[in-house]
Formats: sequence, C-alpha cells, structure tokens
Amino acid sequence: MKKQVKSVLLFVLYMVSCYPAAAQNKANTIRPTEVWPDKQGNHIQAHGGGIIKVKNQYYWYGEQRRKGLDTNYRYVSCYASKDLVNWVFKGDALKATKPDSALGSWLIERPKVFYNTKTKKYVMYMHVDGQVRTLENGVLKMSKSAYVYARVGVAVSNSATGPFKIIKTFRPLGHESRDIGQFIDDDGSAYLVFEDRPYGFRIAKLSADYLEVEKEMSLIPKHMEGGAIVHYNGLYYAIGSALTGWDPNPNKYATAKSLSGPWSDFKDIAPPETKTYGSQSTMMIKVIGSKATTVIFMGDIWKPKTQWDSRYLWMPLEIGDGKLTLPKPQPWTLNIKTGEAKLINP
Ligand code: DGJ
Repeated sequence: MKKQVKSVLLFVLYMVSCYPAAAQNKANTIRPTEVWPDKQGNHIQAHGGGIIKVKNQYYWYGEQRRKGLDTNYRYVSCYASKDLVNWVFKGDALKATKPDSALGSWLIERPKVFYNTKTKKYVMYMHVDGQVRTLENGVLKMSKSAYVYARVGVAVSNSATGPFKIIKTFRPLGHESRDIGQFIDDDGSAYLVFEDRPYGFRIAKLSADYLEVEKEMSLIPKHMEGGAIVHYNGLYYAIGSALTGWDPNPNKYATAKSLSGPWSDFKDIAPPETKTYGSQSTMMIKVIGSKATTVIFMGDIWKPKTQWDSRYLWMPLEIGDGKLTLPKPQPWTLNIKTGEAKLINP
C-alpha cells in the first residue's frame, strides 16, 4: 500500500473510532447562552420555568413564548427528557383564557408543576397578574399597571403533559404574590416561594393535596424575585434576584439549617459586575448520581423585545459548607447516571 493511502486510511479509522465518544459528548453538552434546540429542532420555549422528575422522566414547564401565539390565550409549555440535556416538546400543557373577569390585560409567568403521588394529580402553580377593574367613586376604572392582581393560579391535570385546567386564583395566605418558585424537599414535601412586594420573600408549605398554600415557613424581609431553593448536605440555600424588571442584576444567596430560618445574610452568587452573567434565577435542580451530586443553577437570559429568543443559563454550581458560586458560563457535560458535571475546557 502506498504510504499516502495508508495514512489516509489510518486517519479515517481514527475518526471512526472517535465518533461514538464525540457524538455522546455532543449529546450530553449543555451550552449556556446559546440557542437550545429541542428534539424537533426548535429553540426551547420554557422560560421562567421549573422541572420535576417523575420516575425516570424529567418534565420542564415554562412560559411558552414562541412567535405567532393566539393572543386570546396564555400558554405553558411542557418538555420531557431522561437526561436533562435532550428535550422533546410535548406541547402546550396549559392554554388558558382569562381566569377572572375583573382582569384587564393579563399574563401568566413562571409556571411550576408539582406531582402529587397520593392524588396522582399534576398541580401547576403560576403567577397570574394583570390590570384590575376597580370601582372609584361610583366609576369603573382599570388600573394602569399590569402587575396589580398579584395572585397565584392553580391548574390541575391527570397527565404530566396536560391539558391543565385553571381551577382558581388566590393570594397565598392572603399575601400579594408575584414571582414564584418551587421547592421539593428530600422527604417529598412541597413548598412555594413567592415574592410579597410589601414584605419580602416568603416560603410556604403546600397542603397534602398541593391545592392550598397552607403554612408559612419563613418571611425573609428582602425584596427578591426568581426565588429558588436547594437542600444540599444538610443546609438550605435560597437564591433570588433584585427587582429590576427584565434587566439582569447580581443574584444573591442565603443559607439556613431549617426552612424556618434563621437565614444568613445574602451574598453574591457571581461577581456582581457580571449581573449574574446576564441571567436571572428560576430554579436549582439537584442531580444525585452514582458518583456525585450536582446542583444545577437554572437561569433565564431575558430578551424582553424578542421573548421567543430568550436564552438559558444552566451551570453546575460550586456549592458546599455554606458557600455557593455560579461559575462563568461555558459548555459542560452532564452524566445523568453518575451525576457528574464536567466543564469541557476547564
Ligand atoms: C421580573 C420577573 O422576574 C419576571 O418574571 C417578569 O415578571 C419581569 N420582572 C417583568 O418585568
């Protein structure tokens, strides 16, 4: 065999032997800030979202913001995955009309779904807001602000992928509620985190059937949105952002031994000048594998004028002993079986 042909053959053989590893690497890679295509090839539309695991299946619910939506409805999308990296769009789990005739223009933000193993129901909490009609000196008036209603909506479905139906809206424990977050503790108990504008950041336990917000655990007297909690090595870590609308700001964290507090002071999760690398927290997911436990920070990089192009910033957190740091966004791989997260170019 000629020397040149032989070296070409050897090169081809080398490439073929590398292929499975390369393909697997690609299939396991999370690329924060980039377009994240679902299995159908479309950028994932699950903004301000939350994730649950039911058996071996993860479900990611979020604000559906794709172009061309019917403006008579508000939508929550649902995606399914076994590895948290490759997602299949399962359709719009909620397609809702106005739940209250007192509402003018209205919105749904930050949907979160809990699965109740006893009732076998999927229970969705969401921030429902909008203008409200009020009677002033005998005259009906519509509020100017789109964030006056300040309630949670609860929708229920028998199936993870919906259809969900809104059954009620209310103010949890009588308090204003705007951004919400969800937390499921290691013992399975479910909590709602909500921003009560006059007072602060509240954490409250859901009732056994998840249909009510039953018991306040903490009121952290700090004004924070995008609330997220994780329980890691015996300590609770709570993250939240400041209130700057769609613009990013330095997100912060505090810790406590119990959900009832006392909570530590809040510290930056990333260098403050990066404004959380342009993102805002929505959730933390704990992946417990055979070799490691990884806590993933899920954040949104909002694009208010082109919402459908809003991106995601997911990174494995450096967490432990009361400290939590969000590393600089870069591509990384997740092995869902071992729980290991690896930066591609450490
Ligand atoms: C900040 C919140 O975190 C978002 O969910 C959204 O409500 C924007 N404010 C709207 O300005």
